Amino acid sequence: MATVFSGIQPSGTLTLGNYLGAMQHFVDLQEEHESYFCVVDQHAITVQQDKTSLRKNIRSLSALYLAAGIDPKKSTLFIQSEVPAHSQLAWMLQCVSYIGELERMTQFKDKSTGKNAVSSGLLTYPPLMAADILLYQTDIVPVGEDQKQHLELTRTLAERFNTQYNDIFTVPEVQVPPVGARIMSLQEPTKKMSKSDENSKAYVSMLDDEKTITKKLKSAVTDSDQTIVFDRENKPGVANLLSIYALASGRTIQELEKDYAGSGYGTFKTDVAQSVVELLSPIQTRYYDLIESKELDDILDAGAEHANRQANKSLIKAERAMGLGRRQRKS
Ligand code: TYM
Repeated sequence: MATVFSGIQPSGTLTLGNYLGAMQHFVDLQEEHESYFCVVDQHAITVQQDKTSLRKNIRSLSALYLAAGIDPKKSTLFIQSEVPAHSQLAWMLQCVSYIGELERMTQFKDKSTGKNAVSSGLLTYPPLMAADILLYQTDIVPVGEDQKQHLELTRTLAERFNTQYNDIFTVPEVQVPPVGARIMSLQEPTKKMSKSDENSKAYVSMLDDEKTITKKLKSAVTDSDQTIVFDRENKPGVANLLSIYALASGRTIQELEKDYAGSGYGTFKTDVAQSVVELLSPIQTRYYDLIESKELDDILDAGAEHANRQANKSLIKAERAMGLGRRQRKS
């Protein structure tokens, strides 16, 4: 059975982009694969966080995973900092990473350009991400398009480690969805939808209420020619709404183009909003049931226990391969 691993940062409320580009696919993948889904809190501290908000966001993201359909009987759900092997292996992988290749990461460039105090964690973020993945001998990593470059580096680091030391790690494959890999901002549709956007009208949060969702989608930026066709280049706003609508309703973009031929943007946007409300409202109901529950803590405790057990097996093998410690430890 193939192994799946993915992670999401608890750095704010999840957006519709996170859900459509990543989480929705996790739910399908858990049916056929051994799956690990992680709340990557150590990644979140590469930029300064308020501790109360971080703790709240960790719990909130954990509840959202479950509310969205991650089933603890099928998947392991856990918090990164509760499995120390992640930061231990991350250090070892930093030692096989080159500064130049880390500096070339677009996410690093985006977050560091123009800043005069950049944390070294922002630079060494990809080896930590590689550690997350490699510890579980992962075959498939489902992510949105913005993480592809990090995945390529993960593969490079796995191959380099395997060559320089021992063949310890499975080299993972990235899996990016055919539709929705890059959900765009509702206000600037050439930019990705992001939870850190200063303009809250640019994204739909997973916990927005019906009124807010409708308002945001109705005021989504489109264009002036009133035709509903998928043309990412010339009509990025409409193309984005079509992707959202297709994923939220389970229909294809071609079907939607056909159905809305001749309709105006007003009706189209109202219907997109309705489909998003129908998608998110049952998730929100489950979320509010879970967020204060003991069940959530029990699931996370069991997840951490299982993840620790699995991760330590790979960590010990890697330490032994590198010659760390005093004696040949058993794996
Ligand atoms: P993060 O927390 O920024 O995003 C979580 C997932 O959501 C996807 N995503 C999107 N997909 C489509 N459209 C969008 N607008 C959009 N915005 C975000 C991301 O591609 C991602 O799949 N570094 C990772 C977290 C991470 C990780 C890992 C992922 C840490 N370790 C190991 C996979 C495996 C991140 O910051 O994702």
